[in-house]
Amino acid sequence: MSPRKIRQALAALVLLVVCASAQTASAPQKSVDQRVDELLSKMTLEEKIGQLNQINQGMPTGTVVNGNPVTLNVEQAVTEGRIGSMLNVTGAADTNRLQKIAIEKSRLHIPLLFGFDVIHGYRTVFPIPLAIASSWDPESAKLSAQVAAREATAAGIRWTFAPMVDIARDPRWGRIAEGAGEDPFLGAAIARAYVQGFQGELNSPDHMAACAKHYVAYGAAEAGRDYNSVDLSERRLRETYLPPFEAAEDAGVATFMSSFNTIDGIPASANPFTLRKVLKGEWGFKGFVVSDWNSVGELIPHGVAADGADAARLALNAGVDMDMCSGDYIRYVAGLVKAGTIPESVVDDAARRILRVKFELGLFDHPYTDEKREANDTLTSTNMEAARDIAEKSIVLLKNDKDTLPLSKSVRSIAVIGPLADSQIDMLGNWIGKGEAKDAVTILEGIKAEAPEAKLIVSKGVGVLDPSEEGIAEAVNAARQADVAVLVLGEKGEMTGEAASRAKLGLPGKQEKLLRAVMATGKPLVLVLMNGRPLTLEWEARHVPAIVEAWFPGVQGGNAVARILFGDVNPSAKLPVTFPRSIGQIPLYYNALSTGRPFTDPKAKYESRYLDSPNTPEFPFGYGLSYTKFAYSNLQLSTARLGNTGVIKVTAEVENTGNRAGDEIVQFYTRDLVASVSRPVKELKGFQRVSLRPGEKKTVEFTINRKQVAFWNADMKYAAEPGKFEVWVGPSSMEGLEGSFVLVE
Ligand code: NOJ
Repeated sequence: MSPRKIRQALAALVLLVVCASAQTASAPQKSVDQRVDELLSKMTLEEKIGQLNQINQGMPTGTVVNGNPVTLNVEQAVTEGRIGSMLNVTGAADTNRLQKIAIEKSRLHIPLLFGFDVIHGYRTVFPIPLAIASSWDPESAKLSAQVAAREATAAGIRWTFAPMVDIARDPRWGRIAEGAGEDPFLGAAIARAYVQGFQGELNSPDHMAACAKHYVAYGAAEAGRDYNSVDLSERRLRETYLPPFEAAEDAGVATFMSSFNTIDGIPASANPFTLRKVLKGEWGFKGFVVSDWNSVGELIPHGVAADGADAARLALNAGVDMDMCSGDYIRYVAGLVKAGTIPESVVDDAARRILRVKFELGLFDHPYTDEKREANDTLTSTNMEAARDIAEKSIVLLKNDKDTLPLSKSVRSIAVIGPLADSQIDMLGNWIGKGEAKDAVTILEGIKAEAPEAKLIVSKGVGVLDPSEEGIAEAVNAARQADVAVLVLGEKGEMTGEAASRAKLGLPGKQEKLLRAVMATGKPLVLVLMNGRPLTLEWEARHVPAIVEAWFPGVQGGNAVARILFGDVNPSAKLPVTFPRSIGQIPLYYNALSTGRPFTDPKAKYESRYLDSPNTPEFPFGYGLSYTKFAYSNLQLSTARLGNTGVIKVTAEVENTGNRAGDEIVQFYTRDLVASVSRPVKELKGFQRVSLRPGEKKTVEFTINRKQVAFWNADMKYAAEPGKFEVWVGPSSMEGLEGSFVLVE
């Protein structure tokens, strides 16, 4: 039993005792389950199915009159109890208006649940999730979710389709921007934090139900092409792709979303193994599963359902409780139950799960949002401050030769070049909720604020995707006139996220040409990158003296970047995902298995290697620089032998040997040397963000026990196997102090 489940069981016990002793005094409060059962017993089959139906504002009915598609009469459908949830309705006035219909006009007064993609902020847009993961700071993830929840709930939205906890090892896949990168351990820590931030106490009016998505293995789409098939072993599924979902479940996430992809030929939205066996069975998940957008309807093109009725039968029986927007549940489920192809108990279970979440959110008792909150809670200075602070923790310094950075504030002139230097909308990235471009501070504006005395010579140079090279000459001129050039290059916000896969990962358009031309001036140069995925930066990494990975840093991103450029903030973030040298290396991730012919000798032919590229990445997982230096020393293990119940304390000293205060993200990895199945060459097992003043030294401690080194063994049992383990404590997945211990029977 997980710690959360033990706590829940204890709480239930305490409640039982309290209720029993209070029985003589006053009637005990009904539990959520009792209230759900009572309500269910009054519902018709059609009303229960209504709860399983989620619609989008303005949804077509499928009927066409005089060539015009007829949209659903939402008011009527809500009155008739045919809708359980709506998505994309935003704003307190609208949500309250529709809620009033549900509460006052529907027979059983069941509130609607309004859902929306509140991914990295609602109106105050935070850095994209991949950036937040680069902070390696779960508290930042939690805070961003708290702020987002406060703003969204003010608009009446009590359910977000976040966090996306898909592990992604393929930067071609545009949705890598929405997750926490390639590692299950970091991914799980960040997933837990988001769930806690969004949900808090679920029934408080400024928190919302979270949704762990996309269940599951969506990030393993073949060739990084969105919606593509996935085929992986059960071991890899359990070891790599499931852990962040399990962590979200363990943190009490209220809902899951089933994904678009197939897994071993079976669509995830009709997959009894992942949904019924693992999620609802092994993990005991009590919330509900919503399909992804029309992923029930997509069972037809997947070729597993003949028609909509078939699709509804497969999805609901497999464990998808709510249908997002295909309409197949509301159209066919009643008939399927009557025909005996869906047991009524399956409908009851799905409706029970959905109603339970509505009760837990307190929607039956407080269905409306207080309309005054919308103005008071949105885009506040506290929210903006959180956005800046988190952006500062999320920006990764990739290269800084000859201390090019930080820039001096007394620099006389700066050429600010590139299509992204002054683009408000692109600061936000994609899935921006109700974010607005006009709220965003650009990098140019940030630089102006930080160095008000400097002369800024601004030149766009080229567009992000535009084939024209016309502006390059002007940009070169700008650089010639300035003491230093800052180039802001990368992707447009819309080039990442859903349906935004790329087959090429270099700087798009003519941007590299612009960069090379400006480099040729010989002026000191800083490259600031804005992008939502690892890029291939072979030329840049070799030639550009300073590179800052800003990702899409959000509404306050311009201030955050500028404060880093001028040294008010010392960069501390580290990559949560590997940057390959070339597309040919993909998928490339640090925790791979060893081959039978590991690469050791550049002169040897018959080793696992490329003829035309090193195996190593451009920038590894866990990597990131600082303006100061950190020295690692004195790795100690409290014992060299780990037994059944014991714990090993692993300590190391980290010293700030430079002359600026800074944060170091200290990482702890292990390797199981011999086991019944081949084990990764390194696995992250812990990390800590440590703040150190110049000259300060701290001892960092990690612990490791038997459970933490368990894995899915040759018999597909989760167990640790005795033998020797290596450990590392260090600044990235490629460096560190090394030690070892033995796990004994
Ligand atoms: C499709 C996306 O895959 C999913 O992430 C999102 O939550 C839904 N659409 C709803 O907008």
